[in-house]
Amino acid sequence: MNSENPAAQAEQNSNLRPDGSKKIVLSGIRSTGNLHLGNYYGALQKFVKMQDDYDSRYFIADLHALTTNPDPKALHESVKQILAEYLAAGLDPDKNILYVQSDIPEISEMYLLMNMHVGIGELMRTASFKDKARKALGITSENDEIEKEIIGNQNNNARVNAGLLTYPTLMAVDILIHHADYVPVGKDQEQHLELTRRFGRRFNSFYGVDYFKEPVNFNFGGEAIKVPGLDGSGKMGKSEGNCIYLIDDEKTLRKKVMRAVTDAGPTEPNSPVSQPVENLFTLMDLVSGKDTTDHFREKYADCSIRYGDLKKQLAEDLLKVTLPIRQRILDIRDNDEYLSKIVKQGAERTREYAAKTLKDVREIMGIRKI
Ligand code: ADP
Ligand code: TRP
Repeated sequence: MNSENPAAQAEQNSNLRPDGSKKIVLSGIRSTGNLHLGNYYGALQKFVKMQDDYDSRYFIADLHALTTNPDPKALHESVKQILAEYLAAGLDPDKNILYVQSDIPEISEMYLLMNMHVGIGELMRTASFKDKARKALGITSENDEIEKEIIGNQNNNARVNAGLLTYPTLMAVDILIHHADYVPVGKDQEQHLELTRRFGRRFNSFYGVDYFKEPVNFNFGGEAIKVPGLDGSGKMGKSEGNCIYLIDDEKTLRKKVMRAVTDAGPTEPNSPVSQPVENLFTLMDLVSGKDTTDHFREKYADCSIRYGDLKKQLAEDLLKVTLPIRQRILDIRDNDEYLSKIVKQGAERTREYAAKTLKDVREIMGIRKI
């Protein structure tokens, strides 16, 4: 829509706000285990690419991780691990603010306030909530009645918690508290971003203010990426158990790739490519480059492809990406002093910004000293 308005288009393409300050970039990843290639290409690599040109702030979403009730020790380990993985993937603590979400109490307070403007209906309709609730309740059909099951059955109290339902409120607060312009995330997070914009707009219109801006995803001019899994499914994800992790050693990675799901192979020239094989091509596009993928696509088209060769090449090229990162993770993850210094500084700076927003929000909502 902005293409008709050159000024708006120029503003959109620039890394600067109209007042000359750098645009603010904010993103985070939940601390629910190690980072995988989906996280890397969907999110982390974008973080790294943006760090030179933007006022960028990246965090570890440990409060969001709590919505699925992790073991306390595992949660703590994962926070440290993800910080080490951020750094190992190339995030520079001198160029970015890096912090842990739970170190910022202002976020929790603003989450409470923002919940007053969020409908439980819209939360219950959110795709990620429905997926997680369905899993927790053991509902397999798509066409279900989650609401009825949740409200009608006492046994579900502990299985679907209120934190899970209000996940989008917390995420909106993460973003709005910074007045972020851009939020680099993978495709699966776009619905949450849409909700963030909606909550901000609703707040503005309820109080008759022009306070929150509308943040958008950032994809360097392309589409949001979805990294596929090795099991033939559409998405690589921790809970899907189909991941290549940045921390995987050489042997583990090769084994995973060699075991990736394929099919019986093409029997006629130019036959359509099945989903599992297309997934391998997509991964190859990411790590090997288009020339290599084209080579194998041609072999597929003339039926001379050998999946073993494709997988060997893919594993080789994956290792070129992951092994150097793995080595850096191992180098820093036990350096507690270094890691804690980084997040301490990050928390101090973030709390300054967050306190300012919270003060404004309280004032706008009528919470004032007597
Ligand atoms: P997971 O689905 O493994 O639990 P998260 O939900 O913690 O991963 O995702 C963290 C970030 O990584 C988000 O920005 C998300 O969009 C991105 N991401 C996760 N999986 C993928 C994927 N398969 N492809 C692209 N981006 C992804
Ligand atoms: N929901 C995001 C995920 O699952 C993590 C997240 C929490 C986030 N708060 C955020 C991402 C704010 C970007 C901005 O990956």
